[in-house]
Amino acid sequence: MADRYAVIGHPVAHSKSPWIHAAFARQTGQDLDYGCIEAPIEGFARAVDEFRAAGGRGANVTLPFKEQAFSYCGGEASARARAAAAVNTLRFEGASVYGDNTDGVGLVIDLERNLGRAIAGKRLLLMGAGGAARGVLQPLLQRGPAVLRIANRTARRAEALARLFQDVKGGGFDDLAGGSYDLLINATSAGLANEAPPLPGGIFAPGAFAYDMVYGRDTPFLAQARDAGAATSDGLGMLVEQAAESFQLWRGKRPDTAPVLAALRGR
Ligand code: ATR
Repeated sequence: MADRYAVIGHPVAHSKSPWIHAAFARQTGQDLDYGCIEAPIEGFARAVDEFRAAGGRGANVTLPFKEQAFSYCGGEASARARAAAAVNTLRFEGASVYGDNTDGVGLVIDLERNLGRAIAGKRLLLMGAGGAARGVLQPLLQRGPAVLRIANRTARRAEALARLFQDVKGGGFDDLAGGSYDLLINATSAGLANEAPPLPGGIFAPGAFAYDMVYGRDTPFLAQARDAGAATSDGLGMLVEQAAESFQLWRGKRPDTAPVLAALRGR
């Protein structure tokens, strides 16, 4: 029987992960089966237990369970997952569980390799202070931006998150007035509600690049960035790259993401 994997979330029905992992498996000649598990809001750990008991070898974890997935690992997690206190990838081997967080490296690879945008030396603004922002902070910092600032609607959440890292400042959107940034990354869920973070004028430096982690739609943030003359990208590449990192953790092989991303874009 093929090794079993799944994405666990709520909701999860529209996840592209099964399609992506099936494409990776075909490309690398791996025999695996990857499905979707919609866990009840109060039933994450139980759903994972059941999947393991049924022979599951690994899982991706998506909203709203990434923090619970970190707890589920009981400390058996990578340094980057511990820094994020969130896990998006679980590997099961007998009684043992290992957790990793591939979101941040997925974002970094998409920016640098797929989109050709340097992070090193750039003034970087990260919007949001929830799990999505938290998951990418450490990998972004490791690339050496000149400045990393976090802005969030609820300022104290950004301040608290910034305090966990050296040389990171956090605050509300009002505090951004007068500043400008080269790389602006939207890790808020505002785009899902067809809203944009309230950015002051002049925030996009000449030649700026704007990235929205939301994918598959043109968010108001990306439209605003284009109006200000910035180049833009949605988060589809991050989705494919984080999947490739998970696949590597499970199977020891890194798939070529370019054809998979191209196929998704063409759909
Ligand atoms: P996630 O795990 O996806 O980050 P979350 O923890 O619910 O989910 O966080 C959502 C983020 O989007 C938060 O930073 C939230 O701001 P608050 O902390 O002030 O709630 C931000 N957000 C959601 N809707 C927004 C909107 N319309 N404008 C600006 N920020 C928004």
